Order: sequence, then structure tokens, then C-alpha cells
Amino acid sequence: MGMFAKARPEDAARVLPNHIGVIMDGNGRWAKKRGLPRRMGHSKGAKTFKEICRYCNKIGIKYLTAYAFSTENWKRPQEEVDAIMELLKEYLQDAHNYKDENIKTRFIGDRSALSDELVRLMEDAERESAGATGMTLNIAINYGGRDEIVRAARSLAEQVKNGRLQPGDIDEAMLSSQMYTAGQDDPDLIIRPSGEYRTSNFLLWQSAYAEYIFMDILWPDFTPRQLERALAEYAGRNRRFGGV
Ligand code: IPE
Ligand code: IPE
Ligand code: MG
Repeated sequence: MGMFAKARPEDAARVLPNHIGVIMDGNGRWAKKRGLPRRMGHSKGAKTFKEICRYCNKIGIKYLTAYAFSTENWKRPQEEVDAIMELLKEYLQDAHNYKDENIKTRFIGDRSALSDELVRLMEDAERESAGATGMTLNIAINYGGRDEIVRAARSLAEQVKNGRLQPGDIDEAMLSSQMYTAGQDDPDLIIRPSGEYRTSNFLLWQSAYAEYIFMDILWPDFTPRQLERALAEYAGRNRRFGGV
């Protein structure tokens, strides 16, 4: 191949992100449109989540971070919060979700506000999938980007106080190492369906150079086809990271 060989569209489509973040939004509106209770939207959204995880793993995505419940979502009616927590429990009880698929499951967010039972199931899933060699799946539960940065700051301040660290030693890499995603590549692509154009506190630190794709589709309707559309758009983006 000569040096001026033209890139074919099928080559471009292979520029895969290492790490995809997805804000699973629009469940409530999906249910409302059908005259169903909001929890039915979450239940359909959970099915979409499993399908998208399987697909990402199959096509060779290294990291997928899925936003399931934010630090702000506690503001919702108790029965909706309960329904979401129940779905998470069901997902984790169904061990096939992480055993057969060779997916390494991790959880990011503040566990202290979650029920003991849920936390135990989360720890089981992490332990049992620790040896998986496929995709790493981060499920964000009671996750907030600001909360994560506050925790990182506190932890470093503690180390300074103990004399183990000088303030001048603190750099970006050290901050990164204090995040829930320590050791992972930053997200290359963040997808937000549902027609909203905001981050809603998702991966604030890690998304400095992420490409955002906002899509006018509700999460329960999201399919691997929509993901492929987003991947094709991503492949056509010109990432400069501040360079020329
Ligand atoms: C996302 O769907 C799920 C969670 C935030 C847990 P929503 O429940 O926010 O759906 P909409 O935005 O009300 O349609
Ligand atoms: C973001 O969606 C959180 C999750 C998808 C888990 P929200 O529905 O909570 O976001 P806002 O309130 O529209 O910003
Ligand atoms: Mg929403």
C-alpha cells in the first residue's frame, strides 16, 4: 500500500474507542409514552443495558462505564428509588450476567448509602469476575463526578496531614489514581441518549478529552445499531488533544 492510500469507510469504522461511557437516560419518558409506571421503563432499560454490555464485549471494547444511579437520583420518589435498587439486585443475582460473558464487573460510586445486601452482591460480582479477561464494565451506582473529586481531595489532604505527601507533589496522575477508575484509560466516547445535552455529573475528571455524542432516542429503545451509529460518528471525529 502506498503512502497515499485512501482510507476506506470500513477502516474508519474500526477506529474503536478504548473506553465508552453511557448515560442510560430516558427510561421514565419511555414508560410515560406508553402509559406505564416509570419502573417499567427502568426494567426495559435494564434489558437494554445487558444487550449493550454483551455487544461492546463482543466487538472488543476494553472499558464500558454505565451510569445507573447518580448521587442526585435520591431526590426521586422512594418507590422509584426502591424499584431501581431492586432491579440492580436482580441483575446481580443473575450470576450469568458476569460469569459466562468473561466481563470483569466493577462498581464506581459511594457504597456507604446502599443496602448491605446490595453491597454484598456487588462485592460478590467483583470478586467472581476479577479474573475475567474480556471487557471491564464499570457500573456507576450512587456515583457523582463532584463527589468523586471531593473524595480524592480529602484522601490527598489526609496524606499531607500525615506527612506522607508534600502539596507540591500532587499532580494530575496522582489525582487520577484517587478516582474510582484508577488504572483505567479515560473515556474516549460518552454517549447520552434521551435528547438531553448535559453531563449530569458523569465522569467529570475523566472526560476532559472525551468525545460526546448526544442522541435523540430513549435508552430503552437503544440497540446495538444505535451504538454502531455512534461508533461511526466517533470514528470520523478529529481528536487533537489541544495540538494541531
Ligand atoms: C434514567 O432514566 C435512569 C435513571 C436516572 C436511574 P430516567 O428515569 O431519568 O428517565 P427520564 O429522564 O425521566 O425519561
Ligand atoms: C443521569 O440522568 C443519571 C443517570 C442516567 C443514572 P438524570 O435523569 O438523573 O439526569 P438529569 O436530571 O436529567 O440531569
Ligand atoms: Mg432522566
